Amino acid sequence: MKKLFLASLAALCAAVLVSCSGNQAGEAITNTATITIHPDQAADVIPDELYGQFAEHLGSGIYGGIWVGKNSSIPNTDGYRNDVLEALRELKVPVIRWPGGCFADYYHWEDGIGDNRPTMVNSSWGGTVENNSFGTHEFLNLCEMLGCEPYISGNVGSGSVQELANWVLYMTADGGKWADLRAKNGRKEPWKVKYLGVGNESWGCGGQMTPEYYAGEYRRYAEYCRDYGGNHLFKIASGASDYDYNWTEVLMSGIGQQMNGVGVHYYSTDFSKPSHGSATDFDSDFYYWTVAKSMGIEPVIQKHIAIMDKYDPEGHVKLLIDEWGTWWDVEEGTNPGHLFQQNTMRDAIVASTSFDIFHKYTQRINMTNIAQMVNVLQAMLLTRDDKMVKTPTYFVYKMYNTHRRNKYVPADVKSDLLQSADGKLADVHSISSTTSISDAGKLSISVTNVNLDNDVDVTVNLGGSGKAFTAEILTSPDIKDYNSFDVPDKVGTKSFSAFSVDGSSLTFKIPAHSIVTFVEK
Ligand code: AHR
Repeated sequence: MKKLFLASLAALCAAVLVSCSGNQAGEAITNTATITIHPDQAADVIPDELYGQFAEHLGSGIYGGIWVGKNSSIPNTDGYRNDVLEALRELKVPVIRWPGGCFADYYHWEDGIGDNRPTMVNSSWGGTVENNSFGTHEFLNLCEMLGCEPYISGNVGSGSVQELANWVLYMTADGGKWADLRAKNGRKEPWKVKYLGVGNESWGCGGQMTPEYYAGEYRRYAEYCRDYGGNHLFKIASGASDYDYNWTEVLMSGIGQQMNGVGVHYYSTDFSKPSHGSATDFDSDFYYWTVAKSMGIEPVIQKHIAIMDKYDPEGHVKLLIDEWGTWWDVEEGTNPGHLFQQNTMRDAIVASTSFDIFHKYTQRINMTNIAQMVNVLQAMLLTRDDKMVKTPTYFVYKMYNTHRRNKYVPADVKSDLLQSADGKLADVHSISSTTSISDAGKLSISVTNVNLDNDVDVTVNLGGSGKAFTAEILTSPDIKDYNSFDVPDKVGTKSFSAFSVDGSSLTFKIPAHSIVTFVEK
């Protein structure tokens, strides 16, 4: 496959007039790419919440991964793992969506407060018995400890309007019986809860509803979830599954501005196949398929936005990609219902190239939540007993934090076409990139070399002169490299100095399957 790929790449190089240098023995070829940035056209701010997280009661997503309880031998602060807390603090998590996912429409919040909490069977995920020791207080206190916004996902599928309305009162009201109960349970001051999801995947695990039926339900639920004290809810309708544009159409026409936002879920996997493939053992075909599928989110975003523009041209209703990421077969020996997967440089490239796309649409997209934060799907952190590793995806989030609150800078990116769009798979070019600029006028530039085998000589036309940068690189000799509990530091960021700034251009060679971020000094 590799030979075939290189042969077609050579043909492509000739065809699209890109300059490639190398030999015919199939050894590393260096390609070239140019990026021309337009700081004068910077307009839309990249919100913090674009870098949001999702933590579901799923496998060890909560229990064991975040919450071990005060009596655990694993070092903890009031029951939260210290290692995970510290890693999340470093990441400056802006928002966490909880308690699901599918679990949210099965969760009854009153079971998770007070001293006597019943056990429950998590029938959404593996039939695990949970003791409800992580509930509303534990989640909202975690958000306060991390300094992030909570995004509560309410139960519409098996709950009631009254139950969700009461939950909002319990969390945010400063008087009345629910506030009294909250105080009795140890929290006098109401919490601030900004984001409220009205159900999750209501077309599927959230109640098998039609969009018309859900729109009616949404209006009823949203009406009784009210603002108390200084709290102001941003209400989010349960959104479409990737290509279901009719769902968005019906919600926009049937709910309109009674919702503040509507979600879309998009996973870089093929759900029509019985196996999602191994997280760590894949060939180049599957690698490029994954990148093409993950980049296929761009036309999906464009189509949902076009529908929203029709009903809401001023952009009041926001689009949230409130679940996205890779979905592989579970690691051997783990519960298939727990979605525990490893995370390689391939996942890192899915993350960086996805952000390169998300940054372009912040006029409409105000949040994304990768699935998920710890131990589930494309996680930031993996834990086993008292061990924890940071995944390659974690390092992408950390590197890309520099873009948060900056203005997005449009750019023209010219690089080799590696694979043409085909159905749900997007074009794959060798270079993906994003640029932003701070209020102080400092640039941040991220560049991903998607090529498995070829380094690329990149020139960034900065449109100015005298710029000085620091840079970091995330790379590893093999795309399949990952951090394991035995070798936890195999993949990580390093400082990158092999670049030069000359007049108004920044030039450097980016190694195959690597991600570099430059920050102007
Ligand atoms: O993230 C895992 C699951 O994927 C979520 O619970 C559900 O909403 C989606 O189908």
